[in-house]
Amino acid sequence: ANLPKDRLRLAVQKSGRLHTDSMDLLKACGIKIKSPKEKLLLHADNFPLDLLFVRDDDIPQLVMDGVCDLGIVGQNVLEESALERGTANAYVSERVLDFGGCRLAIALPEERPYASVKDLAGLRIATSYPQLTKRYLAQQGVSADVVTLSGSVEIAPRLGLADVICDLVSSGSTLEANKLRAVETIFKSTAALIRNARPLNAEKAHALEIILRRLDGVQKAAG
Ligand code: PRP
Ligand code: ZN
Ligand code: MG
Repeated sequence: ANLPKDRLRLAVQKSGRLHTDSMDLLKACGIKIKSPKEKLLLHADNFPLDLLFVRDDDIPQLVMDGVCDLGIVGQNVLEESALERGTANAYVSERVLDFGGCRLAIALPEERPYASVKDLAGLRIATSYPQLTKRYLAQQGVSADVVTLSGSVEIAPRLGLADVICDLVSSGSTLEANKLRAVETIFKSTAALIRNARPLNAEKAHALEIILRRLDGVQKAAG
């Protein structure tokens, strides 16, 4: 990828659960970014950093392919992408962040009885996280059909597309609105700051060092 040699490029979620907290973190680190959102690429005024606004699901790949030096992304999305890439994995986790908390959970229609994970055998499970779901089922020794959907997973049981789902739960309101109940947590997650695995040049490494130092100060103060 054709990156500027002296400016770090950071991928941030364009809109969604992580967007505001990601922007607030940069602000708390003293990095000034004007008029976000309308443009997909923005330059910080007072720091050698450019922001690229994208879908969170694309962030692991953008970082691993070197299109961006850095990314702020949920560990759930990151782990799913890492499992999919297998040995082609190419990122370093620089910091676990203190926002974006959620869990990936198996959830069933409220009225469906459930005693243990064995009850999932032979069912169709709708999810946007097929890799994490399959890994969990394999670890539990349960064989079930994983149906991959990119969104609106919560509606799959009512549409007859699946019997149960495996999706992210944050506040729990989406499950409640769809009359589903979580029965197993398969992955716990917060946001993380990741970096492409190749070493940065001296200028970028120095800029990252400053960001990390400020970030540690901000997170320590908040936590
Ligand atoms: C997750 C998940 C649910 C929702 C749950 O989506 O897919 O739709 O959040 O949150 P709640 O428990 O607070 O209702 P996410 O924010 O990851 O967005 P995306 O699926 O569009 O990437
Ligand atoms: Zn997403
Ligand atoms: Mg969603």
